[in-house]
Amino acid sequence: MKLRLDKYLADMGCGTRSEAKKKIRSGMTAVDGIVVKQPEMKIDPAQQSVTLDGKEIAYRSYEYYMLYKPDGVVTATEDMRERTVLDLFPDRRRRDLFPVGRLDKDTVGLLLITNDGALAHRLLAPAKHVDKIYQALIDGVVTEEDIRIFQDGVDIGDDKLCMEAELRILGIQEEKRVSEIELTIREGRFHQVKRMFHAVGKEVLFLKRIQMGTLRLDDSLRPGEYRRLTKEEVAKLCSDRRKQ
Ligand code: URA
Repeated sequence: MKLRLDKYLADMGCGTRSEAKKKIRSGMTAVDGIVVKQPEMKIDPAQQSVTLDGKEIAYRSYEYYMLYKPDGVVTATEDMRERTVLDLFPDRRRRDLFPVGRLDKDTVGLLLITNDGALAHRLLAPAKHVDKIYQALIDGVVTEEDIRIFQDGVDIGDDKLCMEAELRILGIQEEKRVSEIELTIREGRFHQVKRMFHAVGKEVLFLKRIQMGTLRLDDSLRPGEYRRLTKEEVAKLCSDRRKQ
């Protein structure tokens, strides 16, 4: 894939497209060691090397980040009133990043941020049934009966029952009547986890996503922090894609 030199620089965070043009015209850019002043020059990132002010600018087509979404930010690329998950990436170089899927404003945990639309599609397509694992604090004592109902497919008032889901009880605080649970679901319906518990007469007090497909939230991240996925993490997500 070839692309214009000014787009190459802008994609890699070296200013806006017009700033990149100015830099190129002023002779700050070299391609394979030769100064190039034409912003429209076509570059093959796999074959050619680009430098700006003597520094090599490697091209990445796709970027992948794991974000520990904190409470109180909305899962959107922009919003007139609210802070969005992309506001947590103030220095981001690429303008085409987006969150894969949606967590409620008060849900925390794993959110994949990328510009790889095909991967996002594969992780979100209803037919793909990608596992999502949540940990939650539930107001009420979660029972074996709830486990069975979730296993059989709970009715949350949609046309269809939910697909089978695995509910595990991690601990019960009898005196406070709250339960810690882990839940694996394979769909992504609106407010699904909250509605599933509501259907068995309980409310979610705290909800955190810890896994999506093969991608597990890194324990070393704190709310609001993010890191690039490792090559292995990307390869696993993408190899899952090829298997489908
Ligand atoms: N289920 C919910 O109810 N909320 C979320 O944010 C994610 C899953």
